[in-house]
Amino acid sequence: MNDKANPIDLEKVIKADKANVWHHLSQHKPLETSDPLLVVKGEGMYLYDSNGKSHLDATSGGLWTVNTGYGRESIAKAVYDQLTTLNFYAHSAANVPAARFAEKLIEKMPGLSRVYYSNSGSEANEKAYKIVRQIAAKKYGGKKHKILYRERDYHGTTITALSSTGQFERKNQYGPFTPGFVEVPHCCEYRSQFGEVDDYGVRAANEIEKVILAEGPETVGSIVLEPITAGGGIITPPEGYWERVQEICKKYDVLLHIDEVVCGLGRTGTWFGYQHYGIKPDIVTMAKGVASGYAAISCTVTTEEIFDIFKEDSEDNGRMGYFRDVSTFGGCTAGPAAALENMRIIEDENLLENVITMGDYLMEGLLGLKDKHEAIGDVRGKGLFAGFELVKDRETKEPVAETVPIAIFNECMKNGVLVGRTNRSFEKYNNTIALSPAFIVTKEQIDEIIATLDDAIAKHT
Ligand SMILES: Cc1ncc(COP(=O)(O)O)c(C=O)c1O
Repeated sequence: MNDKANPIDLEKVIKADKANVWHHLSQHKPLETSDPLLVVKGEGMYLYDSNGKSHLDATSGGLWTVNTGYGRESIAKAVYDQLTTLNFYAHSAANVPAARFAEKLIEKMPGLSRVYYSNSGSEANEKAYKIVRQIAAKKYGGKKHKILYRERDYHGTTITALSSTGQFERKNQYGPFTPGFVEVPHCCEYRSQFGEVDDYGVRAANEIEKVILAEGPETVGSIVLEPITAGGGIITPPEGYWERVQEICKKYDVLLHIDEVVCGLGRTGTWFGYQHYGIKPDIVTMAKGVASGYAAISCTVTTEEIFDIFKEDSEDNGRMGYFRDVSTFGGCTAGPAAALENMRIIEDENLLENVITMGDYLMEGLLGLKDKHEAIGDVRGKGLFAGFELVKDRETKEPVAETVPIAIFNECMKNGVLVGRTNRSFEKYNNTIALSPAFIVTKEQIDEIIATLDDAIAKHT
């Protein structure tokens, strides 16, 4: 315990870390001569490191996760109460928080009705892919098994989730990949493939149809898309895009799988990102903010129509026809217990409203920075999910080298604000600074984020 009688020796912790820990997404060579950031405490919007320095966190935990902020005692208590009642049993059986959270969640997702639990965004997506593959086997003699994904989107870290990811540097050196995944072009209007056009959204969606026709519609089972691309550069969909995507999916009997791992549970001001665009997905996956990082949980949510396909199988009496998938930790009760309390907080504190109001204020601040700094080529976002591209020249839109956002990120960190950035995802487009503060952020804190960025951009561009 870190109490006064037995304080933790943080120097020893750093030593242990440097000797034995392999960090995520980190080149360890520099850590031979420097120390890692050791985070020891979080409270509201702030993180505290081992030197006692406070950081205003504009990233919700570095990975769009701590949506309701740090130090929520009521979530900790809900998890404690649940763990001391029942921590785990395989989720082939029912448990109280899983059933209760599923019911609450489905209230927010009209048209969908079934929740399958696992632990991470990657895993939730893998479940969706397995569902699509099994439907192909059951209904289409295995033919309709291909899964489309989009250039610049990210769907996770496992080999199959990476197989469905449109980010070259994320994938590089990890192949060969799972067969049956096919890329469709991105929909970033700022980087238009068609020059300046007034129907960019429809054209970008039509590219999907071209891929379906080239592959053969009878071979394509689903398409997985982020509602707003996150790690790929905060790409908001162009006008007309989603309507056309929905039409194409219907026309070719292609299931629409929306990856809400980042946008889900309020990040953009609606419960789910897709709900801004009036579309009806067949499968929705979510993780990160579902329990704000207080416990691991992810969900793969489907329509009743999909669920029904797995209910019986006349040919072999159901022996092989049901969804033969398991996730050990999908039976942990801490996840849904934390998720229930997290959702209560979002509702009782009217946090979706704050996401919209503060999101607008953040966008205003970023557009103000764009007016001031030539290096900002484009500002994009929705709700408390925003970012901007840094360019060498506004005319040519040539992206800056990755060293520039890294320098801005470091400068902000030195000055007490944690921002995000595209990180080793592309050869050319690691040029985006990303912001995703927790839903409790205030005007004053956004002012501080903008002012800190202003200085850092002035210094490093
Ligand atoms: C859109 C999206 N999908 C899936 C994932 C994978 O989630 P996880 O890291 O929990 O496996 C991420 C992670 O960043 C993501 O941004």
